[in-house]
Amino acid sequence: MEASLLRRQGHAPNGFRLKPGYLDRSAQEALAAAIAGIIAQAPLFTPRMPKSGAPFSVRMTNCGPLGWVSDQAGYRYQPTHPDTGEPWPPMPAMLLAAWQDLAGYPHPPEACLVNVYAPAARMGLHQDRDEHDFAAPVVSLSLGQTCLFRIGGAARNAPTRSFRLASGDALVLAGEARLAFHGVDRIIPGSSTLLPDGSRINLTLRRVNGPP
Ligand code: SIN
Ligand code: FE2
Repeated sequence: MEASLLRRQGHAPNGFRLKPGYLDRSAQEALAAAIAGIIAQAPLFTPRMPKSGAPFSVRMTNCGPLGWVSDQAGYRYQPTHPDTGEPWPPMPAMLLAAWQDLAGYPHPPEACLVNVYAPAARMGLHQDRDEHDFAAPVVSLSLGQTCLFRIGGAARNAPTRSFRLASGDALVLAGEARLAFHGVDRIIPGSSTLLPDGSRINLTLRRVNGPP
């Protein structure tokens, strides 16, 4: 492994794994096309903060049996789209294959959150903790513009570090890293030609419930 990568991973919580270039360009193009199909069926929505109702800068949709949503009533997983009331589209085979390859978990993911970042969008530091079981990892795949990603520890005030996540990179948050605070500081414009509108798409595959 590249020395700088080892150094970067050396300070990360246990169970954090970065796989730069996990998807090659043709796999990225195929996945981007599959996601465009999902967005056509399950349109992007603007999530809102619980209580305040303030909009996120990121727009979202989901695929799989469950999807993550947020509005004034709170964060939750639900089987239907908040605007259309329709079930989420099925997860593309490519995503199921990536989970099988990377998750080290014997059951399939139940939700894939699709986050779409316009050039000025960001995501504040948070934990992924709306799942009912944390034994399975969160597997993340990135497409389009590179972002500056930040990760800390399981406590909000633990030290954080940041690194770039580029198109095709995979990240696994397992073990101690499963509940690490993380977020996206900013999108780096002009860093990828994959998505013609200059956006970044991040897919996170999650298991919501324990073993079936
Ligand atoms: C998330 O934490 O839901 C998204 C992370 C990312 O965009 O890389
Ligand atoms: Fe997250």
